[in-house]
Amino acid sequence: MSAIPRNQWYVAAYGTEIGRDLFARTICGEPILFWRTESGTVTANSDRCVHRRFPLSQAPSRLVGDQVVCGYHGFTYGPDGKCVAVPGQARVPRTARLTPYPVVEQDSFVWVWIGDPALADPARIPRAPYLDSADYTTVCGLEPLRARFSLLVDNLLDLSHETYLHGGYIGTPEVADTPISTEVDDDAGIVYVSRHMDDAECPPFYAKSTGLAGRISRWQDIEYTPPCLYKLHSRIAPVGSVPNPDGTDPDAFHVEVVYAITPETEHSTHDFWAVARDFALDDHEVSEFLAENNRTVVLQDVEALNVLEQVVQTEPPGYQELSINIDTGGLAARRMLARMAGQTPRNAPAERTR
Ligand code: FES
Ligand SMILES: [Fe+2]
Repeated sequence: MSAIPRNQWYVAAYGTEIGRDLFARTICGEPILFWRTESGTVTANSDRCVHRRFPLSQAPSRLVGDQVVCGYHGFTYGPDGKCVAVPGQARVPRTARLTPYPVVEQDSFVWVWIGDPALADPARIPRAPYLDSADYTTVCGLEPLRARFSLLVDNLLDLSHETYLHGGYIGTPEVADTPISTEVDDDAGIVYVSRHMDDAECPPFYAKSTGLAGRISRWQDIEYTPPCLYKLHSRIAPVGSVPNPDGTDPDAFHVEVVYAITPETEHSTHDFWAVARDFALDDHEVSEFLAENNRTVVLQDVEALNVLEQVVQTEPPGYQELSINIDTGGLAARRMLARMAGQTPRNAPAERTR
């Protein structure tokens, strides 16, 4: 049985990836074809010609105006997936239609609905407005991960790994040493994990980008909306500084780290990452530094999770992981994901943390 929840919105691409060229990406095991119409709307349809299954994203298939022409025998489809012309006969079979996917472009992402289109409600797409807000500057990327998406969820929900896997980049001793608090909002479908370090070493990632010297107050507030959108609200400030009662926070630097965790297949994942900041907005050097540094950090995770995927796949069934307090958020996320996928959670009997 699949571990991938259906009837959910997933990030398929950055809006900037999709233009007037045919663009293909496999999302949750489904090959999908995207293009932008002449009026600028993103379309999403199955990437298989209904005739002999030739991928429409594959040359010599091509876009002509707002229609895609199959490169094998010329079946031609409109943006809604309906076939409008076939070779050698005037009559187009009624059933000649690509499967169209509900698609929404929002917050710099292209979201697709995987599941029953009748259930697709754009209001349910979680938001990350800073990614295309003029008040923030964002750097972003996408890394292929050869591991199941749940391993990335585990990884992102437990940031104590920063101290070990990302030492010298974003990890300092205080991350692993400071206890977390976890809250689960089952109605809203959100897992929150917070770690507030009030007197911590400033890792190079933040020292170089903010210019703060010396020790800092560092808050990490995770907000994960399963299955796809993960946000880390990161606050960096001089020690002793707290937000004002009205919510303003002039002494602090705010970084919104966003991941979209999109299964490609059961065992591979599209790891979208973005870092939005509310300071040094026009400073290209800061942008370059954060982009390069964050990509390095993401690749450290990718390397570790690629190894873990191989371990998990080759292990005999029944391995019992041992969970401790740091895993509380990850376990809550696993429960939600298992419910969404109609499964029982991995490690269900061992969920009491020790
Ligand atoms: S496979 Fe596309 S037209 Fe034949
Ligand atoms: Fe990491």
